[in-house]
Amino acid sequence: MLDLVTDKVQDETRQGEAFSPFANDPNDYRKRFYIESYGCQMNFADSEIVASILNKEGFGATRNVEEADLIFVNTCSIREKAEQTVRKRLTEFRKLKEKKPGTLVGVLGCMAERLKSKFLEEEKLVDLVVGPDAYRTLPALVTDAEGGQKAVNVLLSRDETYADISPVRLDSNGISAFVSIMRGCNNMCSFCVVPFTRGRERSRDVDSIVNECTELFNSGYREVTLLGQNVDSYYFNDEKNNTIITFASLLERVAMVSPLLRVRFSTSHPKDITDDVLHTMAKYENICRYIHLPLQSGSTRVLQLMNRTYTREWYKAKVDRIREIMPDCGISSDIIAGFCTEEENDHKATLDVMEYSRYDMSYMFFYSERPGTLAQRRYKDDIPEDIKKRRLVEIIELQNKLSLDSNKKDLGKIFKVLIEGESKRNSDNWMGRNSQNKVIVFPKGNLNYKKGEYVTVKVNDCTQATLLGEIVEM
Ligand code: 5AD
Ligand code: SF4
Repeated sequence: MLDLVTDKVQDETRQGEAFSPFANDPNDYRKRFYIESYGCQMNFADSEIVASILNKEGFGATRNVEEADLIFVNTCSIREKAEQTVRKRLTEFRKLKEKKPGTLVGVLGCMAERLKSKFLEEEKLVDLVVGPDAYRTLPALVTDAEGGQKAVNVLLSRDETYADISPVRLDSNGISAFVSIMRGCNNMCSFCVVPFTRGRERSRDVDSIVNECTELFNSGYREVTLLGQNVDSYYFNDEKNNTIITFASLLERVAMVSPLLRVRFSTSHPKDITDDVLHTMAKYENICRYIHLPLQSGSTRVLQLMNRTYTREWYKAKVDRIREIMPDCGISSDIIAGFCTEEENDHKATLDVMEYSRYDMSYMFFYSERPGTLAQRRYKDDIPEDIKKRRLVEIIELQNKLSLDSNKKDLGKIFKVLIEGESKRNSDNWMGRNSQNKVIVFPKGNLNYKKGEYVTVKVNDCTQATLLGEIVEM
């Protein structure tokens, strides 16, 4: 049951075949790098920036770790389990290194800052440690490490957005891409380590975002997901045009790239998502009807300890507002079970808001205390593990029911679906998503559709996770 809680992004759509940075002939490149990413979509997007920086310096990517000269792990600190997984991988890579001396191992991303001395000195696990704002210095650090020097840069920046770097797409299906629009977070939710590992919030230049989306569209992509820890606080002073660009105006600019380009975004903070954003979504058919709106807890008392700055009533009113403006909008959530001081009635309050919100999907976790966070400094992690896990199981069971209910409501409906590729289970079937971000699997039949095209699909069956349907020609 707890397997549902995964720290590695697993997604049928990320198994594509179109790449650019991978070398066929090893002699094409000065060195070959292998990069493994953990955690959120932002980390996956960062790995594509890293690949671009390394590519420019003459390094080629490989998917085979055995043939890599440089092994990078882009790490996640959000929960303890993610850190443990990374440590295990680093130990395996050290063994590889013993077999093939000269191989360099580097830790990138969120674990870099906190664990730099441990990794480099105490455990001698790695050769390079590079934080999320220091990727431009990576080629120079590789040279230092090759010369046997310590290679560390974990400085956080107030203005680095990598705006001018065109990410090279790793493991892409050639249809959907992540586009980072901002970095860092100023929110200080008390459980969260992100403000410490990724630093202050900063927004990327609007033109560079629109240009990246246009280039993606021109090279065949049909869906972009705009990424930030808190996209609704996107704020860019466009001095060239003397205007302030908010998230709503950014969405509109990206939606106008082409009506054939689907636009998604993640993550929204319930306190910040505005009517302006909702109306912009409603205005453009190609902005997908789907909002990831993390609840975290349904208890106002716990929300206050979490420093989320909204109450359960505020959250429910937001859900109402979304449904009022877009009755067909999908909503998903993040939920934490067993935060400090959580009592049975707080837990019930969470289940209650979940039912009220009728989430299509949720990412569910039990609370994991993170060093340096406000919660770790202020509160005791006082909920026993068995209670945390029992509450999490109840949350997961409720979500399973809500997901199935939501899918059953779609039976008989017709959706516009973007074909993302063949179904992993059966190559006679296509898989794609509807605007609400639900996965739909349907037979190809003898119709000549291709990946990246839109089709209309009628839903005639479902499981808890997937809609099943057939193409209807309109
Ligand atoms: N423990 C458990 N879950 C956490 N999250 C963030 N920090 C923690 C933590 N310390 C969850 C939140 C967040 C998602 C990305 O990860 O639900 O929205
Ligand atoms: Fe963490 Fe809260 Fe920022 Fe999300 S909004 S990254 S949970 S501090």
